[in-house]
Amino acid sequence: MKKLKMGIIGCGRIGSTKHVEAIVKNADIIEAVATCDIVLDKAKSCSEKIEGLTNQKPKYYTDFIEMIENEEIDFVSIATESGYHYEIAIEALKRGKNVLVEKPMALSTAHMDHMCALAKEKDLKLGVCFQNRFNPPIEELRQKIDSGAFGHVNYAVANVRWNRDREYYNQAPWRGTWQLDGGSLMNQCTHNTDLLQWMLGGDVDEVYGVVRNFQHKYIEAEDFGGALIKFKNGSVGILEGTSTIYPKNLEETLSVFGEFGTVVIGGLAVNKIKTWKFPDEDSHPFMELPDPDTVYGSGHVPLYRDFYEAIINNRKPKISGEDGRKAVEIVLAIYKSALEGKPIKFPFDFSTEKMKDWNGHYVVRG
Ligand SMILES: NC(=O)c1ccc[n+]([C@@H]2O[C@H](COP(=O)([O-])OP(=O)(O)OC[C@H]3O[C@@H](n4cnc5c(N)ncnc54)[C@H](O)[C@@H]3O)[C@@H](O)[C@H]2O)c1
Repeated sequence: MKKLKMGIIGCGRIGSTKHVEAIVKNADIIEAVATCDIVLDKAKSCSEKIEGLTNQKPKYYTDFIEMIENEEIDFVSIATESGYHYEIAIEALKRGKNVLVEKPMALSTAHMDHMCALAKEKDLKLGVCFQNRFNPPIEELRQKIDSGAFGHVNYAVANVRWNRDREYYNQAPWRGTWQLDGGSLMNQCTHNTDLLQWMLGGDVDEVYGVVRNFQHKYIEAEDFGGALIKFKNGSVGILEGTSTIYPKNLEETLSVFGEFGTVVIGGLAVNKIKTWKFPDEDSHPFMELPDPDTVYGSGHVPLYRDFYEAIINNRKPKISGEDGRKAVEIVLAIYKSALEGKPIKFPFDFSTEKMKDWNGHYVVRG
C-alpha cells in the first residue's frame, strides 16, 4: 500500500501524544518524516518518541515553512495553539500540502471560509480533528439516525461537565485568551457541539446563548456557556459546557430524543451508551465500554486513516473543513449572542477577537 509522508506542526500536549499515537498505529500507511515546534526541544523529543516507536527518525524543525519546503510531504497536521491554525494552514495550502488541523480549525468565520476556499481552489484535502465522531457508540447512533429509526429527531442535549483548574491554565498561557483560544465552549465543548449538530442535521437557523466566567478570574474567556440552537429542519439543540465542575471531570454526554427513539451516550467523553431505547430494542452491547485513558479518547487513529484514504481515493475526508466549520460557527454565534444580548441569525460574521470588550466575569461573592 502506498505510504503518505507527513509532518507534525506543534509538538505540545496533543501533538506529541494523540498525533504520535495515530502515526504509530497507522505506520503501514503513514510515515512521519518531520516534526516542528518553535521550541526546539519539543520538536526533537517528539521526533525521538516517533523513532522509538517506529524505528524511523523524523527530522525536526523550528520553522514550519522551512520544514514544508525542505521535505517531501503529502500532508501536515497542525496541533499548535488554536489562534495560529489559520495562518499555518493557509501557508501549507499555498505550498500544495493537504492539511489536517486540530479543533477548533480557526477562531473566526472569515478565516474558516478562507481555509475552505483555498483548499478547494488548490484541490487539496482539509480535514478537522473532531475525533469523537469515530467513537463506536457515536457511530452506532449516527447509523441509527440515518436508518430513520428515530422518526423525527426532535431535540438533542450536549453536556460537557468538566473541571479545569489553575494549573491547567498555568501550563500554557494561551489557554482562555480570546486571541488564541476562547473558553470552555470553544476549547472543551467544540467536540460535543460538533456531535450535536451532526446528529440534528447541520443547518442552523438561529442561536441564543449565555456565557459567564464564574470562577476562573485569571482567564479572559468564559468558563460556562449555555445555548439554545434552532435548526432549519425544526430540531432544537440544547448545549451546556463548563470547566467549573467540582471537584473533577464528571461527564461528556450527548442525548438524542426522537419520535420513536431515545439514546443517551455518556461516560467521561461520550464513549459509553447509557440509554438505548427503540420499539424493539432496550439495550446495546456498548453499554459496558470502559472509559478512555484521557478525555481525548482514541479517535485520532481512525481519523488519520480516514484522512489517508481521502487523499489516496481523492474524496472528502469524513470531517472536512466545511464540516469542522459548523461547530465553531455555533460557538461564535453563542459568543456574539452573549455580547449583543439577542439571538443570532445565520449566516453572520464574527471572531473571538471581537469578544475582547466582553466582561462576563460574574462576581460570585463580593
Ligand atoms: N482533538 C482534541 O481532543 C484536542 C485535545 C487537546 C488539544 N486540542 C487542540 O490542539 C491544539 C494544541 O493544544 P495543546 O494543548 O497541545 O497545546 P500546547 O500548548 O501543549 O501545544 C502547542 C504547541 O505548538 C507549538 N507552536 C506554536 N506556534 C508554532 C509554530 N508556528 N510552529 C510550530 N509549533 C508551534 C508550541 O510551542 C506548543 O509546543 C489546540 O488547538 C487545542 O484546541 C485538541
